[in-house]
Amino acid sequence: MTVRKAVLPVAGLGTRFLPATKAQPKEMLPIVDKPLVQYAVEEVRASEIPLVIFVTGRGKNAIENHFDVSFELENELAGRGKQELREQMRSISSLLEIIYLRQKQPLGLGHAILTTRELVADEPFAVLLSDDVIDSRVPCLKQMMQVYEEFGASVVALQRVPRQHVSSYGVIRGSAVRNKHWNGRLFSIEDLVEKPKPREAPSDLVIIGRYILTPAIFRELAETRRGAGGEIQLTDGLRRLRAREPIYGYLFEGKRYDAGDKLGFLKATVELALKRPDMGRDFRRYLKSLDL
Ligand code: UTP
Repeated sequence: MTVRKAVLPVAGLGTRFLPATKAQPKEMLPIVDKPLVQYAVEEVRASEIPLVIFVTGRGKNAIENHFDVSFELENELAGRGKQELREQMRSISSLLEIIYLRQKQPLGLGHAILTTRELVADEPFAVLLSDDVIDSRVPCLKQMMQVYEEFGASVVALQRVPRQHVSSYGVIRGSAVRNKHWNGRLFSIEDLVEKPKPREAPSDLVIIGRYILTPAIFRELAETRRGAGGEIQLTDGLRRLRAREPIYGYLFEGKRYDAGDKLGFLKATVELALKRPDMGRDFRRYLKSLDL
């Protein structure tokens, strides 16, 4: 079965970005001029998944408006002769089919995903956390879909991080799948631990915000008790799922920015701005002129 649905949970409170997120969603913070959430939706589209299911919450209306048609703005731009910009605005609203669901209380990522149970129904689906902006030649999700197509099992995206940083993530214990085709990038997961201390971490391979999940995850999440921070943790649900069926971890090719963190957000801004054809050269010159 192919992956036809992508879930984007955007109902979190975004406390690390307060006060910027007091009255606007974290997911609408722009890297240069594009909101985080649009990077994620474009990755879904480039991976040829036709439907996005947003899990939203209070104060997230700006996301719905962003992906809707804005006649006033389009008319205004047309009136000012800005046809190209008008076309750009229109194209955002026709990126994909989108469904919005509300998570009434932010009870955790696992809970947000569980909210989509009826809509996703009995098929595999992708999950993307828009905090993680990934710059890669082949979209990260598309790379993972190749793993799903070969094994028909859940796949989580992995990244190696320095040991002292593992305690911010879910960490895996796994063994490399010995197969030329996957070139040391694929791991069969044996266990997962949420935010371990560096000394106790089973490896330096951490889970980042891209998943392909089988629908069996719903039954496990429904039975997962609240864990760290009083939230239903996806990692706990995955741990239960692992006891029933295989899960693979995939070291994706590309660079990930943790844009949910202030420093990560700045790094993404600088590096993606440097890559922009319309401003990269000027920006590089400016950075070089700084007396650092
Ligand atoms: P985070 O752990 O980054 O939480 O959630 P957050 O609230 O967004 O940000 P901080 O940590 O307070 O700054 C990971 C993802 O899960 C979603 C978030 O929107 C984010 O995309 N999420 C989290 C939900 O949709 N619902 C929740 O109850 C919790």
